[in-house]
Amino acid sequence: MSKQHILVTGGAGYIGSHVVKQLLEETLHSVTIIDNLSTGHNSTIETLTSMLPDHEKARLTFIKQDLSDFDAVEGIFRSNTFDALIHFAASIVVPESVEKPLKYYMNNTVNTTNIIKMCNDYGVGKMIFSSTAAVYGDPTEIPVKETTPLGPINPYGHSKRMSEQVIQDAAAANPEFDYVILRYFNVAGADIKNRIGQSFPNATHLIKVAAQTVTGQRDKMYSFGEDYDTPDGTCIRDYIHVDDLASAHLSALDYLDTAGEKEGKNIFNVGYGHGFSVDEVIETMKKVSGIDFAVERAPRRAGDSAVLISDNSKIKSVLGWTPKYDDLELICRTALAWEEKLKPLP
Ligand SMILES: NC(=O)c1ccc[n+]([C@@H]2O[C@H](COP(=O)([O-])OP(=O)(O)OC[C@H]3O[C@@H](n4cnc5c(N)ncnc54)[C@H](O)[C@@H]3O)[C@@H](O)[C@H]2O)c1
Repeated sequence: MSKQHILVTGGAGYIGSHVVKQLLEETLHSVTIIDNLSTGHNSTIETLTSMLPDHEKARLTFIKQDLSDFDAVEGIFRSNTFDALIHFAASIVVPESVEKPLKYYMNNTVNTTNIIKMCNDYGVGKMIFSSTAAVYGDPTEIPVKETTPLGPINPYGHSKRMSEQVIQDAAAANPEFDYVILRYFNVAGADIKNRIGQSFPNATHLIKVAAQTVTGQRDKMYSFGEDYDTPDGTCIRDYIHVDDLASAHLSALDYLDTAGEKEGKNIFNVGYGHGFSVDEVIETMKKVSGIDFAVERAPRRAGDSAVLISDNSKIKSVLGWTPKYDDLELICRTALAWEEKLKPLP
């Protein structure tokens, strides 16, 4: 495998750090992270650096930088040669996107447009983009295929859908620019060796919130809606372990190295292809923790569809992606182990 220099935006965050970990441990590539640490953490960068032996520390460079400073970002492209961009940096909280839509369009769509321009101006020919099942909105079919009509229902989903369009249009006009767009379903869990995880305390992910409730960081948690058209009335989601999601990025990078011109521009769902209800997740967290924590029923939240499950046959057949951690108990155990580690000392 050739040694490449990969630019990772948002590499101090939850998913980005798991991908950087795999790039450092499973490839010979060098990585430069750009992150403004708005939700990412310097301690994550330190942990990633500590994974490398002394003579390889130079493989990881961290630049604290906000992507909205276009001149500074251009300076980074001018003084480096990157082989590929993996673009995670974004604002990701759906309810916040409804209250502050312009924050989402600026950070997600405008800053993405600028970094695509940088790739085009400075000859970076490969991009992997973090998209989301939110681009499907309330999907017209389950399981959701890549060809299922798109219909975002909140500014977060729209900001990602628009970014996808910018990538596709830029690539159509530039045969030297290839991309893989990955549409993630519900990402959960933490590093199998418990070195990194989801560290942002205000995260809204169900499994993270359940783990915070087990560890006493919350008195109780809420379950939103019990009258959905599902067997137990609660929403069903396709939960994927973050290390399996990370490995999809390494598969995508390999694919971009070998795919022909047409195939080098492609979109994949990333999920396990089956789902669990909110009640099933809560029961599983209670089982693995041995703690019967408090859960309060609350009304439905606006914009939650009843069921979101991926059809993952395309990524399995085209990228040869093979998940290893398709096990809800393991996902809950790793999320809980990470939360125990994060928990502030009394
Ligand atoms: N977590 C999920 O379940 C999920 C699901 C679907 C898609 N995604 C997408 O995956 C990507 C990563 O999500 P995550 O869960 O790791 O979130 P995260 O908040 O942990 O990571 C985002 C990182 O980007 C950085 N960042 C944000 N804006 C920046 C800016 N303007 N300049 C520089 N750095 C900036 C943050 O500091 C953080 O380190 C996002 O693009 C998100 O939309 C996440």
